[in-house]
Amino acid sequence: MDMKEACPTCPPAQQLASWKRLARLAADPSQPTIAELLEDASRSRTLQLEAGGLLFDFSKQRLSRKALAELLRLAQERQWRARVVDLFQGAPVNSSEGRAALHSALRAPPGRQPPAVGAEVAANLERLQRFVAELAEGRRAGFSGKAFAQVVHIGIGGSELGPRLAVEALQPAGRGRRVRFVANVDGHALAQALDGLDPETTLFIVVSKSFSTLETRLNAQSARRWFLERTRRPEALAQHFIAVTANPQAAADFGLPQQSLFPIWDWVGGRFSLWSAAGLSIALALGGEAFAALLAGAHAMDQHFQEAPAAANAPLLAALIGVWNGNFLGATSQAVLPYDERLRLLPDYLQQLETESNGKRVRRDGSPLEVHSTPILWGGVGSTGQHAFHQWLHQGTHGCAVDFILTGAAEHGLSEHHRWLLANGLSQAKALAFGAEHADPHRAVPGNRPSTTIVLDRLDPARLGALLAFYEHRTFCQGLIWDLNSFDQWGVELGKRLAETLFEQLGDGAAEDQDASTRALIERLRERNPATEPGE
Ligand code: F6P
Repeated sequence: MDMKEACPTCPPAQQLASWKRLARLAADPSQPTIAELLEDASRSRTLQLEAGGLLFDFSKQRLSRKALAELLRLAQERQWRARVVDLFQGAPVNSSEGRAALHSALRAPPGRQPPAVGAEVAANLERLQRFVAELAEGRRAGFSGKAFAQVVHIGIGGSELGPRLAVEALQPAGRGRRVRFVANVDGHALAQALDGLDPETTLFIVVSKSFSTLETRLNAQSARRWFLERTRRPEALAQHFIAVTANPQAAADFGLPQQSLFPIWDWVGGRFSLWSAAGLSIALALGGEAFAALLAGAHAMDQHFQEAPAAANAPLLAALIGVWNGNFLGATSQAVLPYDERLRLLPDYLQQLETESNGKRVRRDGSPLEVHSTPILWGGVGSTGQHAFHQWLHQGTHGCAVDFILTGAAEHGLSEHHRWLLANGLSQAKALAFGAEHADPHRAVPGNRPSTTIVLDRLDPARLGALLAFYEHRTFCQGLIWDLNSFDQWGVELGKRLAETLFEQLGDGAAEDQDASTRALIERLRERNPATEPGE
């Protein structure tokens, strides 16, 4: 396809009238501080909103009414509404690969899915639910007739981060099986995951859209060898290994028949795939009902995103605020701080979502992006982060936008702990916003540092689904403001290609063609890691 034609009518962001006005506003020294803005008691009414069962509080942002109005104009100039319609209707929004990004169809109830994919999505969800029920009822068991007690999920990037986050966040409330995850090609990861497992009661789920990702391929091969060495039952492979993939031929070459495969489609990006059969381990860990609730929560956010007006649309507002902080107020990163130990993997998950989607340097038509795209997203759980990096947040020289995530009700019954946790979360947002004056500059805390607070009344599958869908749509909206393609990831391919040659050279291949730095490193590492045959 001719990429130049992707959007002939979209001017670069910096040429938009609203962008220019925002730049003038940001440079105005009389811009009100967060403390001054919060003197307006109505602010929390206009900047707090409910969506998908979550509360979003944007009132501690450094955002005047004027700035907000300009940001909304910016969204309008970018025709955000039409772009959302394109997304949900299956237009080829992934312009460099000519693909749709229809992950929302995976969580839409029957009748609300785009007709082109609806029947297939429904049939596969039903099959997944049947599989989960059969396992739970013992109708599907290991080769010796014993029930599966353990699941090992093998996958990386989008084929791991989402399922792992959901399982670790919700498992305490779940009724299902324990799941161990293996992503890294580092053999320590697989060795740890297999440690102490009984092959007779272990089910492996290999999730790889391409079925060619090096890490997953190697981990799956080593897991298969582990299984065969212990059982000597090659005919049982199909019972103990399930693959979720868009490449059935490669899965067949691995030894899996059609009935051991669940499909994933080219219109589901890896980082948007936990709603598909890539989330099978979620359903096995939490139960089929919980998986359905996760999908329903995400769908509720989809509806909000499609229907709410711009000024009350949580993902759009969050995206515009992100652009304001990053492109105009100098925030060089976005921190996500869940005050909930169960959500400790959320920053990792969102880091992939945001940076793989919007870590781009050209626009959809291939021309250079002359404004910054997404800053790095990072984070960690409160309250422990307060004793690590919060010093940097309060007194460091870099600007940072912060999302606090608070959970109203805890599940542990230790109410004093939970009240302290919440008090800490609220106090951090307050300290960032208001700071504290002091005669000693070392002790003065400047304040006027922006944050958003998101409240989940409790952490359950539906609310987690809504939270993740919120961030997906925020990512999409930021991509449309910058006019880039949020759905490809060509930048990660180069390193994969180079690794193929380096693998050979770290064995005994000649490394003469390498640069001097890499050659010296190869020699040093070769001495420490003499070549071994696969399987040794
Ligand atoms: O790291 C790049 C990437 O392509 C991700 O986008 C993807 O989620 C991951 O690799 C795994 O890919 P696959 O599911 O094809 O194994």
